[in-house]
Amino acid sequence: MFIRRRSVDASIDPSGQHTIPMTDYRFGSWQVAISRRPRAKEDLARRYDAASRKWHHITRRYGLAAAYRKSLIASGVAAALEEVGPQSEVLDCGIGSGALSIALNSIIADTPNIHGIDLSSKMLARAASEMQLTGLMPDLRQADILSMPFADASFDVVMAAHVIEHLPDPQLALKEMVRVLKPGGMLLLCTVRRSAFGVLIQMRWQTWAISESQGIAWLRECHLDDIGFQPVNLGAFAGQASTAFWARRPGESTHIPEIDAATKTRGIDP
Ligand SMILES: C[S@@+](CC[C@H](N)C(=O)[O-])C[C@H]1O[C@@H](n2cnc3c(N)ncnc32)[C@H](O)[C@@H]1O
Repeated sequence: MFIRRRSVDASIDPSGQHTIPMTDYRFGSWQVAISRRPRAKEDLARRYDAASRKWHHITRRYGLAAAYRKSLIASGVAAALEEVGPQSEVLDCGIGSGALSIALNSIIADTPNIHGIDLSSKMLARAASEMQLTGLMPDLRQADILSMPFADASFDVVMAAHVIEHLPDPQLALKEMVRVLKPGGMLLLCTVRRSAFGVLIQMRWQTWAISESQGIAWLRECHLDDIGFQPVNLGAFAGQASTAFWARRPGESTHIPEIDAATKTRGIDP
């Protein structure tokens, strides 16, 4: 019998709550879809507060520094910042302990002005101390990626590693990231992908596992250009458990078109 696993968009359960799709199988005329309620924002912040003490051990165990450096080079983000020079403005959304920003700073000549936001106050404290060790003095703020305290078109690069998969509707976060990105600026995302390790993350953290076609579709729906992606290798145990996506905000216009509702609700095959 033909069984096909599909990639699906966020949905709303009968009680009116947004849910995260875990899996969706179709066989013949049957469709079995399993989705899960996301963690509430306060619960997520509490869990990351609790994880903050050991988060930098986790980043070391999975070789995130090296993995992020590779993605930052492959995406062209590092080269784009070299062009802007020392006054470049970078935003790290869901900065955690600062691993992505530290990796970025280690591969470019001029230290950018780094801004970071996170829901978890303890993660922000950890980011401050880890980044200080590498000579960075970031502007850190406790904020939600869905409503960031920055003006439109403020940053040359806006990035988020392993954050948007926590949200019931990652497109809303992407839209907010694009809002604060300068025309011509670059966006970088790392997200958990479908894999054996991805399933473990999904079970533990109630996250999406995002397929490449789904990620690309979301970036297209934000009307971004120069979209690319590559798998991120997180070591022998986790394997290619994440994907790095990148894209550029078109230079000519500062207008961010609304995501059209019909496009947003359409499922995309992996
Ligand atoms: C898996 S950790 C990744 C941390 C860091 N980016 C890294 O790669 O090491 C996810 C981080 O995103 C933060 N986070 C989750 N949801 C968020 C939201 N809605 N707004 C801002 N930060 C969020 C968490 O508090 C946590 O620090």
